[in-house]
Amino acid sequence: MNDLTPSPDILDPIEIASRDEIAALQQQRMAWSLRHAYDNSPFYRQRFDAHGVHPDDFRTLADLARFPFTMKQDLRDTYPFGMFAVPRERLARIHGSSGTTGKPTVVGYTKGDIDVWADVMARSIRASGGRAGDICHVAYGYGLFTGGLGAHYGAERLGCTVVPISGGMTERQVTLMQDFKPRIIMVTPSYMLSILDEFRRQGVDPRESSVKVGIFGAEPWTNSMRQEIEQAFDMDAVDIYGLSEVMGPGVANECVETKDGLHVWEDHFYPEIIDPETGAVLPDGEMGELVFTTLTKEGLPMIRYRTRDLSRILPGTARTMRRIEKITGRSDDMIILRGVNVFPTQIEEQILKCAGLAPHFHLELVRAERMDAMIVHVECAASHAGADARGASSRELGHHIKSVVGISTRIEIHDPGNLARSEGKAKRVIDNRPKGQ
Ligand code: DLL
Repeated sequence: MNDLTPSPDILDPIEIASRDEIAALQQQRMAWSLRHAYDNSPFYRQRFDAHGVHPDDFRTLADLARFPFTMKQDLRDTYPFGMFAVPRERLARIHGSSGTTGKPTVVGYTKGDIDVWADVMARSIRASGGRAGDICHVAYGYGLFTGGLGAHYGAERLGCTVVPISGGMTERQVTLMQDFKPRIIMVTPSYMLSILDEFRRQGVDPRESSVKVGIFGAEPWTNSMRQEIEQAFDMDAVDIYGLSEVMGPGVANECVETKDGLHVWEDHFYPEIIDPETGAVLPDGEMGELVFTTLTKEGLPMIRYRTRDLSRILPGTARTMRRIEKITGRSDDMIILRGVNVFPTQIEEQILKCAGLAPHFHLELVRAERMDAMIVHVECAASHAGADARGASSRELGHHIKSVVGISTRIEIHDPGNLARSEGKAKRVIDNRPKGQ
């Protein structure tokens, strides 16, 4: 696509610093963060004491492994404000993580935190190929979810003209994209597909649209989906990662010139990979659960936060900061079907191989004759809606899933436009198995 390699003089100096410089900064900031958490958050003081560690025990980065993990449950147990390390009056903003259950997990930011967040988001947009002066269409949801406001402040910080449209009202999204001509769009990949459908419905060629850079995240998506979107819009599609507990979007981002995994902005967020069973730290390159420690966060420092996201740490390429491999899924999303571990992204990949299918799908889990089974609900492409074509697509998909993923599934092909569309994070799995058996 486009050559968007940035000239070094527009990068933050730390983005091209040596590994030694980065490690020295991390060590100094980590010492501050552990001390700050211990001195100012009764939660952390109690947790460290119970674990028999003290911030003075931290001398080198390897000592971090001696400190206890923090989990989502800790935020629930201290709901709403019990983990903060500054008086509530110093918080400039509250966000909440998107939970499916009743109460969100609450996170808080000082003015300084929001400033750092805007910086790392500006860096992320620049790494994606965005530049000052671009029009940036933000279709992540605004509200307690960190996507909209996180993207918004970052785009403003970079010097973009921001269109804060938020999610939903897809027809209007397309109209305003036609009228305002944004060069950048920031949105979940599944909602980008809904926008793509709407372009086609209105008879507008998406390849003629003004968007050249898409910054997609908040949910797992595959390289096959990247190709699908890039070809449909004639654009570069780049992956952005983050989570509210650690900050929001902008913890890690791909560089458009390499698209080879996401550089962690390691001057603010320290990554580790652990064995999810034992909690042992794994060497770089090995697959496991991602854990982050914040290095500069004031309001809500996070010490060794277990994300449940599965990935591995890889060396830097386009930047010196290390990368994480594109996330295949969360351990919570893993389906175990008759002993085989399956992630929805694996099914997505197989669907995208079939020319007769559209990339809209969800997976239903059922129990038939005491055996768990998976039904793949997927739409046919408008060009392949006839009975013969549907039968062929169904057989083709079933074959791919069986031979690559290793499970037998039932395939149900739906009419174009019949499955519910995502306006934010897509819900991929519907579990209709009887509870408690
Ligand atoms: O989803 C923050 C965000 C907003 C990231 C916009 C990127 C863009 P939460 O709602 O707290 O925050 O959800 C965090 O979403 O632990 C992952 O499981 C998942 N996730 C986020 N980005 C990606 C990604 C935001 N690029 C949870 N690939 C995380 C895969 C992702 N999963």
